[in-house]
Amino acid sequence: MALTFDGLAEVAMARDLLRRWWGLELGLTDAKGGGYDRTSHATCESVRGLHGAACAKELADLAVQFGKTKERAAVVKTCHAGMTIIAAPVLGITGVLGVVFATGAHATDPGAAEQGLIKTIGSTPDEAKTLVAATPMVSVDDQLRIRDLVNAAAAAVERALPIEIPTTAFSHPFNEIVGDAPAVRDVVKLLAKVVKSEATVLVHGESGTGKELIARAIHYHGPRAKKPFVVQNCSAFNDNLLESALFGHVRGAFTGAVKDQPGLFQVADGGTFFLDEIGDMSAALQVKLLRVLQEGVFTPVGGTKPVRVDVRIIAASHKDLAHMVQHKQFREDLFYRVNVLKITVPPLRERVSDIPRLAQHFVVKHWRGPTQPPRLSQSALARLVAYGWPGNIRELENEMERMLVLAGDATELTGSMVSTRVAGMVAPPPKTLRDAIAISEADAIVAALGRHLGERDGAAVDLGISRAYLDARCAALGLGTGG
Ligand SMILES: Nc1ncnc2c1ncn2[C@@H]1O[C@H](COP(=O)(O)OP(=O)(O)O)[C@@H](O)[C@H]1O
Ligand SMILES: [Mg+2]
Repeated sequence: MALTFDGLAEVAMARDLLRRWWGLELGLTDAKGGGYDRTSHATCESVRGLHGAACAKELADLAVQFGKTKERAAVVKTCHAGMTIIAAPVLGITGVLGVVFATGAHATDPGAAEQGLIKTIGSTPDEAKTLVAATPMVSVDDQLRIRDLVNAAAAAVERALPIEIPTTAFSHPFNEIVGDAPAVRDVVKLLAKVVKSEATVLVHGESGTGKELIARAIHYHGPRAKKPFVVQNCSAFNDNLLESALFGHVRGAFTGAVKDQPGLFQVADGGTFFLDEIGDMSAALQVKLLRVLQEGVFTPVGGTKPVRVDVRIIAASHKDLAHMVQHKQFREDLFYRVNVLKITVPPLRERVSDIPRLAQHFVVKHWRGPTQPPRLSQSALARLVAYGWPGNIRELENEMERMLVLAGDATELTGSMVSTRVAGMVAPPPKTLRDAIAISEADAIVAALGRHLGERDGAAVDLGISRAYLDARCAALGLGTGG
């Protein structure tokens, strides 16, 4: 992906203003500080002639800094030669692709700039004085305006970058399931086996990760595809309503039951029944469901005659059913019946590499216009990739629909169309092992101290360490000095 200023109106304007008002030059470099020869400011040129590697390093360091802080706005930096660089990042979906920068001024006092030049180019004090005199000193107000211009130029470069969604060598028959992150590949490989069997499947995953999509894929790619696929969410109704929805009722079973009403299990006969949020099913209904799974029969509400059905069951839950079994909130026998084949669907934050492809997929899916759907810009994608997506793929889908509405008939979805919620929340930076260990150690210590109302001797016994070691760890972890 080539970074370029070519043909960008905002860049031409920013460059022109920077030259005319302050005598500054606008430059563009890649994230390694390379390709920065667009700068032709006299002072920088003379520094660069001798210390090109140092100049490149200054810019590369800036790129690293932007990558760490995820800051988009231009920053002001004093370079190794005592000159000022005002720089903004060019962000792509993979991170910082480059840096746009204005150079040729000094913001610090002339003396410091002179010293910098003497040190770096080894110029005589007189030469340094001349060079510094040839560069403007920009006030804080000026810096604000310069930063705006640099930001505008960086944004223009970002927008001009085409988004490239890498083609995938991973092909599978489940076209409706978009993505090829490693975690998704595992799921799809498992699906290929699952569809051939008739076994009960448990789909586990956070809300919005695609559990229902996977259940549908199992049904429509399997031998029951031509038979019904029926969905019921077990947390949607109260117990009585759910029971009669699932199993039906006979006439007179309760007030209002004026005729026999078949339940969804009968509707699903021969096909697949997707029981969503099975963890929310009451104990009484769990018993009835167990019977369907064991014997293939159930009794409608108020009825006496058992009804026989042939239904494949796919159950889903965002809760950890094994954990619920341990806490007696879910029947153990039903759990083993349901958990024959388990598919764990990863949250979107564990398949970040799929975000561009998914975003693109939803643009096409929800585009209603007569023309081509709008293009997704790098700046929009950079924001989408940086977000944590607690609502997973459903949230991403909603975001893309919202952006399409905002875009109207624009040909491009830009970063500014991304909602503030998504653009504002950046995924927490990955933790190092050392940080992760420190955090869980601190958690354990705080919990033990809590149990002992801050009394350290007791906490130390709980933790299986000496009191002295506990004091030392508390000090190291910044947990204060205890009693
Ligand atoms: N891998 C995927 N590819 C394309 N669309 C997906 C994918 N995963 C989920 N979706 C879409 O995201 C939305 C939410 O998925 P859904 O299956 O309802 O999630 P869940 O049942 O886990 O809450 C649906 O519109 C679904 O089509
Ligand atoms: Mg769902």
